[in-house]
Amino acid sequence: MAPRVVRYSERPELWERIEDLSSAVWPEYNLHGEELNRYWARLYEDFPDWQFVLYEPDEDAVLAEGHTIPVGWDGTYAGLGPGIDATIAAGFRLRSAGGQPTAASALAAEIPPQHRSRGLARVLLAAMAALARDAGLTHLIAPVRPSQKERYPTIPIDRYVRWTRADGLPFDPWIRVHTRLGARLGPAIPRSLHIAGTVADWESWTGMPFPETGDYVFPAGLATVRIDRERNRGDYWEPNVWIVHDTTGQLPRLANL
Ligand SMILES: CC(C)(COP(=O)(O)OP(=O)(O)OC[C@H]1O[C@@H](n2cnc3c(N)ncnc32)[C@H](O)[C@@H]1OP(=O)(O)O)[C@@H](O)C(=O)NCCC(=O)NCCS
Repeated sequence: MAPRVVRYSERPELWERIEDLSSAVWPEYNLHGEELNRYWARLYEDFPDWQFVLYEPDEDAVLAEGHTIPVGWDGTYAGLGPGIDATIAAGFRLRSAGGQPTAASALAAEIPPQHRSRGLARVLLAAMAALARDAGLTHLIAPVRPSQKERYPTIPIDRYVRWTRADGLPFDPWIRVHTRLGARLGPAIPRSLHIAGTVADWESWTGMPFPETGDYVFPAGLATVRIDRERNRGDYWEPNVWIVHDTTGQLPRLANL
């Protein structure tokens, strides 16, 4: 049977089973974005219809988790903004101001390793688009974290996202999943997600020492981290790329949305 989309507002108790999902999916450093963490827990209270899991009734199993937020978007590339930090903040501001959303933004697609490589990535994206369509929104915008960028941390993001394979498809597998569904590749965003900490924080998050001031490649980093020993600070900007889905297009339809 096809997995069902279950929103947090429908069955919050399903989330008790997946408390460890974030740590299974993200490298430790990725869990420390200051701006993201300011809002993340409130997503469930303020946007419970926009957080969902893919649930397999036959196995009674949660297979994947998706996070989205309704936002204002003027339809231009410039209007997409600098990245995920700005987008989540703007979504909460729009809600406080009682504004009308004009698009949905993806915030995270999370598939634990044991459920990868069985085509769920495409189902997760189709589910995000379906939530947007269900709310009358014609576009799903996504600040995408290209999964293989971690192998090329010193290559600028605007170059990396344009790489293609011999068959002409995007080089990055996660970008490929999006474009295969008919989405458009938008602008690269070099400073999407800010992660800052002390040198000791960064040493514990990455499991490597940073003996002097400089830019370092580190495990699973999409770019380098700038370590400043004199200021006892490490700064990292995660690069993303905007991808735009038209929710009225040819996306696969799901069983219950
Ligand atoms: C990104 C993610 C959602 C993709 O899910 P998935 O189950 O691996 O996706 P699929 O099985 O549909 O594979 C997608 C593509 O990646 C390829 N792929 C999967 N693992 C790969 C690997 N280790 N190396 C190279 N390619 C890989 C697949 O072959 C497929 O490409 P193809 O369609 O051209 O064959 C999942 O890996 C994940 O949750 N990652 C961690 C969190 C994250 O980065 N989320 C996205 C940003 S918000």
